[in-house]
Parts: sequence; structure tokens; C-alpha cells
Amino acid sequence: MEEQTYITEPQLQLPPQLSTYAHEVDWVYDFIFVLSVISFVAIVAAMVYFMWRYRARPGHKAEPTGHSDILEIAWTFGPVPLLFLMFHWGFQAYLAGAIAPDDAINVRVRASQWSWDFEHPNGIAETNIVHIPAGVPVRFVLSSSDVLHSFFVPDFRIKRDAVPGMFTSIWVQAIERDDVTPMVPAEFGEDPGLATPAARREWYRAQLFCTEYCGANTAGSWDLNGGHATMLGQVVVQRREDYDDFMANPPPPRCGDHDCTPLEWGEQIFSARCTVCHSRVAGGPTAQAPNLWGVFGREERLVGRGTITIDEAYVRHSIQQPAADVVEGFNPIMPTLPLSEQQIDALVAYLQTLHD
Ligand code: CUA
Repeated sequence: MEEQTYITEPQLQLPPQLSTYAHEVDWVYDFIFVLSVISFVAIVAAMVYFMWRYRARPGHKAEPTGHSDILEIAWTFGPVPLLFLMFHWGFQAYLAGAIAPDDAINVRVRASQWSWDFEHPNGIAETNIVHIPAGVPVRFVLSSSDVLHSFFVPDFRIKRDAVPGMFTSIWVQAIERDDVTPMVPAEFGEDPGLATPAARREWYRAQLFCTEYCGANTAGSWDLNGGHATMLGQVVVQRREDYDDFMANPPPPRCGDHDCTPLEWGEQIFSARCTVCHSRVAGGPTAQAPNLWGVFGREERLVGRGTITIDEAYVRHSIQQPAADVVEGFNPIMPTLPLSEQQIDALVAYLQTLHD
């Protein structure tokens, strides 16, 4: 049972049906698949038969076959009902996924190069992981802060593009699984001192992919901090009561086997969100954005504001409103990151350590 809390292994068949919607998609898929197999076998069998039947033989002369209206009409209009069926069932399944029930929980999803940021109705923020309750409709409202991305959870059979400049949405109701026991994952240990063990109790997980090519790591290395291929996430499905507990008591972020210290957390956020543009080493590149090594106490000329000494107030303000006070010589290209106050605190604490 233990492994089943985690995401399912890759397999040749379709992944497990972990949403109430999955069977609708699979039914259309299976129909088209079986129809294609039958057609393929029939066509190839006919070809082989005709090759044999009309093979070149001594004493047999080739004769032109002429034209048959009846045959042409038959093979043109014969498959039309099948096409209508495919469209009908496909469109029905599409609508079922597009239109969320009124009582769905709205989760905001912000896609950016290269991570997924989630915001729950009560303001709790998560990155690359999102908790949802089983047996309850959840509507993901998607946006992108840079380029096209696509939100794809194969186990749920849901996929929707995140498009810059517009909102899109897709909904899902994760199934309740009697075959799996909800449990606290081993990485959180059996800590009896945990104030809210239920908040970390998980039923199962589903893997989230970005399935729209959205760029490569500009650092040009195999560093896993960037690139479309690393834009992954996990949907953690909880029982309704555990989910409510999680919403009331979100656990602190994890660094390996322990809760992160603020500095570790800040480093984690920096690595995930900032290194795409900002360097953090002495003499590092400044092609896209200021180098943040030794940023505190540095004199910078701001566009339209003259020279200031970089302090905590400026850094916090620049994280929350990146376009407000841009350092001269740089373009206002930094996106507004959906960071909580605690995350900004951790990030600022980490940035203050970047000096000799
Ligand atoms: Cu985001 Cu691919």
C-alpha cells in the first residue's frame, strides 16, 4: 500500500483513471482506437488478398476495372455516421471537462518559466505541488506570466493551455480510492509531535506535466533549474477532512528530511524563481537583470529616481512591484511572482547572505 501514495509508474497502457471524468475520455479514445485497428486489419487483409487474387499469371491479361458510382458513394458516405459519432462523443467529453459545476473550488494556477504557482481560495500558496480534496469538483483557473504553457495531468485526463494575456480553466473531480490507505508520507516521518498530522495525510498523487514546449534553460547547462522538461508538479489528493486540515494548517516547506530554515527556504525560492535571470555570484553575468551578489548596500541608479542605496525596503518593493523602480540599463521584464509574505521574508534573508 505504501508506494501507492505516490505517483504511478510509467506504463504502456493508459494511466489509471483517477478522475470521475477519465472514463468519458477513455471511452472515446477506446472507440477510435478499436475502430482504427479494425479498419487497419481489414484494409491490409483486402490488399493482401487482391495482391494474391490478381497476381501476374501466364495466360491472364490485365483488364481495366472501369468506374463504379455505387462503390464510391458507399465508401464515401459509409464512414460518415462513424465520424459523427466520434465528434459527438468527443465534443460531449470536451464540454464535460470545460464547464465546471457551480460548487467547484477555484484554484488559481500561474504558469511561468519554469514552475507552477498555485493559490487556494483562502490565500495559501504552493509551488509545483497542489493539494486538492477527493470527491469534490476543483476548477483550475490558468494564466501564464510569460509564454505558452499547458497544464496536463494524464491520470485525470485533463489538459488545458495556459496562455499569456488570458484566463483559461479546466476542472476535475479526483476519485476516492478504496484501494489505497491515506497516510502521512514517509518523508514526514511518524513525528508524534506533529501538531496537525492529518494536514500531511495524503491519499494519492497524480503527476502534473507542462505539455507545451516553453523554452530551454538559458544558462545553457544541464542545471535542473530551468527548461520545459523540468516544469513538473504533483497534485496531492487528500480526503476531504485532511484537506480542510491542510487548508487550516499548511505545513512549513520541506528541505530534505527536515523543515526548512528561513535561509534554506530563501535559497530554494531563489533557485526556483530567480536564477533564470539573476546571477548570485561575484562577477556573474548581468545580461538580463542585475547581479544580486552583494546587492545590499550597493549604489544603483534607478530610472527616473536618481541614485539610491539598495536596502531591504527597496528589495521587498521590487519583488512585489518589479516594474516600479527599475535599475538603469535594464528593461522592466521581471514578472510579479506570487510569493507570500513569508516567502518574501525568506528570500530577503537569503539575499542578505550574498556577500563576502
Ligand atoms: Cu511550461 Cu513547457
